[in-house]
This record gives sequence, structure tokens and C-alpha cells, in this order.
Amino acid sequence: MPRNVVVIGTQWGDEGKGKIVDWLAEQVHGVVRFQGGHNAGHTLVVNGKKTVLRLIPSGMLHPHTTCYLGNGVVVSPADLMKEIGELEAAGVEVRSRLKIAHACPVVAPYHVAVDQAREAKRGDAKIGTTGRGIGPTYEDKVARRAIRLHDLTEPTLEAKLKEVLEYHNFMLANYLNAPTVDYAQTLDTLRKAGEQIAPMLADVSHALTEARRHGKPLLFEGAQGTLLDVDNGTYPFVTSSNCVSGAAGPGAGVGARMIDYVLGITKAYTTRVGSGPFPTELFDDIGAGLAKRGNEFGSVTGRPRRCGWLDIPALKRSFEINGVDGMAIMKLDVLSGMDEIKICTGYDFRGEWIDRLPYGSSAVADCKPVYETLAGWKESVFGIRKFEQLPMNAQSYLKRVEALTGVPIALVSTGFERDDTILMQHPLN
Ligand code: IMP
Repeated sequence: MPRNVVVIGTQWGDEGKGKIVDWLAEQVHGVVRFQGGHNAGHTLVVNGKKTVLRLIPSGMLHPHTTCYLGNGVVVSPADLMKEIGELEAAGVEVRSRLKIAHACPVVAPYHVAVDQAREAKRGDAKIGTTGRGIGPTYEDKVARRAIRLHDLTEPTLEAKLKEVLEYHNFMLANYLNAPTVDYAQTLDTLRKAGEQIAPMLADVSHALTEARRHGKPLLFEGAQGTLLDVDNGTYPFVTSSNCVSGAAGPGAGVGARMIDYVLGITKAYTTRVGSGPFPTELFDDIGAGLAKRGNEFGSVTGRPRRCGWLDIPALKRSFEINGVDGMAIMKLDVLSGMDEIKICTGYDFRGEWIDRLPYGSSAVADCKPVYETLAGWKESVFGIRKFEQLPMNAQSYLKRVEALTGVPIALVSTGFERDDTILMQHPLN
């Protein structure tokens, strides 16, 4: 029987999860998002055509695939409808194939206002959020005052909105010195969006359980990355959800036994967007070269991404947290043309050698990377689809990464097109 696979980012997001989910989705019944919101940006390139998905699972371009938004996803009704509209304009049938959990918390305009005003107030100490209201929405969920999708068509919406908006407007006016959000306009927007979304609401938990019972394989698609996880990441420079494999259960409403294989998506170097410590960050021409060749600009915000060498101690931490069974190494082509390539194998941490990323951002900021240097390769590897066709030094690089992490490589990506992918071990079989 094919395996259910959870695909997660092992670094600070932007590893290339969307490409791999799209590639694997060919063979599955369903693709399930279980956390995050439209702060994510998953880029798919099929036959030269680029599609950026933010909320909609990366299986949407395969017509036979059902896409699910689990209850752990925070949904901005306006952005969801915009994304659906964009896909429909490109000829993709969405509404009959998108099943959304009733319990998804709603991202509303007051969350965006609070997110942005709070970042402005923080000044230099800002987290560098995407400004999409994600953090304040998860706060409302945990504080048990969130409006959820099923509320949008209930008569109780008015009273709920009044209460939650009173709280946020008090915060905006009295603490953040920012304009407040209008009640009547918000109510009207939410009601209209609720009517459009209602036909797509479904019992996702039950549908996934039934798919499993009938042997139909599922892919669980993580957003962001492990080092941005609210519990395990470089707190407080993190997102507000759990981005790790174990979050697929509560975020999709399924049990722990639903997952058979954990695929850790890992860029061949490291990037980070937003603030926070980044031990292997490069501030020189080498970093600028990676950014240029890798086109490292945020797909949601357009912000330039910070770039650095591959960080094994961070990966080791990440692989343990997720229980990674296999890695997909992404963007190997970006490393071509370099004389030498460095891999961080440990840190000098306050005078002591450590080989695991420590917890907390001040500790991570004190990690000085210790590097091993490997010979680079000059040849392009762009679009190569067989491991044996890679230059010997590229093969050695990959083998060294496997040896240092102790985790096998399942896939290697050598270009942005769906099929620019080397298969080493199939995650689904
Ligand atoms: P938030 O998720 O908008 O609250 O942003 C919190 C942190 O997570 C910031 O550093 C963002 O840049 C980062 N972040 C959020 N979503 C993504 C993503 O999809 N890729 C990379 N970084 C992200």
C-alpha cells in the first residue's frame, strides 16, 4: 500500500516544499495543509508556467487530486477567494476539489492591522513578519475568542465580531497608536466571504480517515520551516504555528498513525527571511551570489532572503524534532560554479564545541560556525535527472551531507521545473 507522507521544511522556510508536493501529488488522492496561512508562498513551475500558491495546497494543479485545508490552517477569506479567482482565471477547477475544515480560524482585517502596528512599534526589534495577520489570529485561537469559518454564516457572528473587535480596537487605539477597524464594514466583508466559502466547508477529519481506510494515499504539506516553529524554532523570531511533522495530526484532525513517512525538504544551502539569528549567514559576495543565482526573494512579500552555507547542527536538530525519514535536497544547481563549498559541521558555542542548534535566539546568536571545506564543481547541474550524471564533486557533496546527518537523500532538485528532480528513494513506496 502506498505510504502517507508528510512534507516539512527543515530550515527557515522557502526550502522548495511546493515543488516537491506538486511532484509527488501526481500519485496521491489528496494533499492536506495543516498549519500556517497565506504567509506561505509555494511556487510551482509546470511547462515554464509559474504558479504561486499561498493557502491552497500544492496538489491543485493535478486535476484528479483533492485538496484539503485542515483546521490548523488560518484562513483569510478575502485572500482565499482571491487565490481561487486567480487559479480559475488560469483554467483550474478549484471549488469542487477544495475541502475546508469548519474550524479554521479566520484571519480578519483587524489581525492585519495589529500585526503591522505591532511590528512598527517594535522598530529595530521587529520579528520581520509577513504582515499578514498570522500571529494575532493564532493568539485569538489560543485565547478562545477566534471567529472560525463555521461562524461566518451563523447568526452569532455579529456578537462574536463585536466582542473580538472591541478587544483589538482597544489595543490598536490605546497601545499601538494605530487607526481602529470599522465594525460594520468588517461584518459585511466576512458575511459575504462566508457565503462564498460555505459550499467548500467539509468534514476534513472524516474525509481523510475514509481515504486512509480505502488505501488512498495522502500528502500532508507543511508551510514555513522547523526553525520557524513556535515551540522549537529560534523563538521569538518564529511564526505562530507548529511547522513540524507532528503538527499534521492536530492540524488536520487525524491521528498519529496517519503518517508513514516524513520527508524533510532541505535547501542545499541556507536562507532566512525576516529577523533573527542565522549562524552561517554570509555577508560577502558568496552570499550575494547564492541570492542572485537562487533568486532568493520572498514569494509572498518580495523581501530579499538572507543566504548562507548549509548548517548541519541546525539540520540535526530539525531532523530529530520531525523524525525525518528522508531528505529532498533542493536547488543543488545554485551551488554550481563555486571553487569551494563549505558545510557547517558544528558550532563554537561560548567556548565549547556543540553539534546541535541550541534553543532560544540569544543562544543561537552566540553560535560561531565551524566549517568543513569541500571542492566545488564548475559544470552546470541544471535540469539533471540522474544521480550518476552529476559531477563527481556534486555527488561527493550530497554523500557528505548524508554522512553528516545520518539521513538518506530521497530526492534531489536540480531546477525549478516539476521534473528537474533526481529520484533516489521514492517517499510514497
Ligand atoms: P509571520 O508568520 O508572518 O508571523 O512571520 C514570522 C516569521 O516567519 C518571519 O520571520 C517571516 O519572515 C517568517 N515566515 C513566515 N512565513 C514564511 C514562509 O512561508 N517562508 C519563509 N519565512 C516565513
